Amino acid sequence: MSAADVTSVAYLVAAVLFILGLKGLARPRTAPRGNLLGASGMLVAILATLLDRSIVDFRVLLAGLVVGSAIGAVLAVRVQMTGMPQLVALFNGFGGGASVLVAGASFLAVVDEGLVDNQLAIAAALTALIGVVTLTGSLVAFAKLQEVLSLGGFRGQGVLRAVLAVVAVAAAVMVVVSPADTGWFWLLVGAGALLGILGTVAIGGADMPVVIALLNAFSGLAASTAGFVLDNPLLIIAGSLVGASGVILTQIMCTSMNRSLFDVVFGSMATGGVVADADEVYGDRVTSTSAEEVAMILEVAERVVIVPGYGLAVAQAQHAVRDLMRTLNDAGTEVVFGIHPVAGRMPGHMNVLLAEAEIDYECLLDMDQVNPTFAQTDVTIVIGANDVVNPLARTDPNSPIAGMPVLNVDESRTVVVIKRSLGAGFAGIPNPLFAADGTLMLFGDGKKAVLDVVAALLNA
Ligand code: TAP
Repeated sequence: MSAADVTSVAYLVAAVLFILGLKGLARPRTAPRGNLLGASGMLVAILATLLDRSIVDFRVLLAGLVVGSAIGAVLAVRVQMTGMPQLVALFNGFGGGASVLVAGASFLAVVDEGLVDNQLAIAAALTALIGVVTLTGSLVAFAKLQEVLSLGGFRGQGVLRAVLAVVAVAAAVMVVVSPADTGWFWLLVGAGALLGILGTVAIGGADMPVVIALLNAFSGLAASTAGFVLDNPLLIIAGSLVGASGVILTQIMCTSMNRSLFDVVFGSMATGGVVADADEVYGDRVTSTSAEEVAMILEVAERVVIVPGYGLAVAQAQHAVRDLMRTLNDAGTEVVFGIHPVAGRMPGHMNVLLAEAEIDYECLLDMDQVNPTFAQTDVTIVIGANDVVNPLARTDPNSPIAGMPVLNVDESRTVVVIKRSLGAGFAGIPNPLFAADGTLMLFGDGKKAVLDVVAALLNA
């Protein structure tokens, strides 16, 4: 078997591992194994590529693997669950950036040799555009998720974006028509970089999750087109897998958020709508409660729905919530969880948290399943959720989250909301649920408040 054959077999093994890994990731129970398979595929791919291309000496390779694995392990252990979306945003951005660098360097080298053909030029132009939009767009998304950037849109932003898009497309065409003139390539990179920034800077409200999924798809597409530039089949396969799964995720997110992909890409990404005044929404109508009072209400409840949100992740209250569920189950109370598709800061955020506490998947109901049941629910406990239970999405067409489907917790007999204050959620708007007649506010850190309720139930 020649060295080229060994590389091809290694690529095939890696591709199969990626596909099996993705299949495993489709179910929470098989996800850890899927993760391991995908990571093993990546190890095979990296080793095969670096050895095949004789890029570096074998010892340097080993040293790189050790250092890279150490950085990965430290990140995995140290990054808080709440920091995960930012990390994913960075990974997306670096993926896009790496595609531009590698494909760009390869394209420019071939240009120097005067050997560019149409396929290479088209692939390089696409990689540059998609990759650089992904890089700058993801960096902005990272800054927004990290809450270090809170810029909104500005007047004329749509026009500027359209002009940049035209410049980028024209430059891409010129890269293909006249590849030797490398100025077009740099113009394409510059226009794409600004487009990425302008495309994401004003996103807020309900569109952020969709855009993160879209950037994820872009990072895969950029890797895939880079594979055509480098003539590397594994990169094409891996990029296509990421791109396709990202597109499917984007579609799911669009459906959940009631947005069309067209709107997300071409128009209404900006934070819009009118934000109501918090004092007007709450007035003196907010009723606060205590752990003991909540325990008394729970004692006579037959059916309880728990709605987790981002604050559950912040408070790391998943184990406390499991204890609450078990305590209620022991008393004969039915308990289910209502999971909104964009609760938290990343797709599946709540599922991952609750799985960590070994809460049975059977108890997790998605929005379509749980919404018709609120009217028959005695108590709904909202823990650290805000936007996903905000009735304004249904009732106020001018709200920034208008049209976003929400969990209709206000239809339950009693709603207990656990959070630290009347502070707003990600969308930055007040929530009339907190001042509604059937709502009791249990102010405090999510974990402590839930543990207090459990203690009160056990002491009753
Ligand atoms: P949010 O609306 O962001 O509200 C979270 C609430 O948690 C806050 O109001 C905060 O109130 C409370 N909180 C924070 N720390 C807490 C603690 N230690 N204990 C108890 N409560 C705490 O969360 P949500 O309802 O899950 O909605 C998610 C939002 O994020 C949506 O707007 C969605 O569009 C957006 N988003 C989602 C994603 C994905 S893919 N899931 C990605 C990006 C953005 P206090 O400060 O008063 O405690």
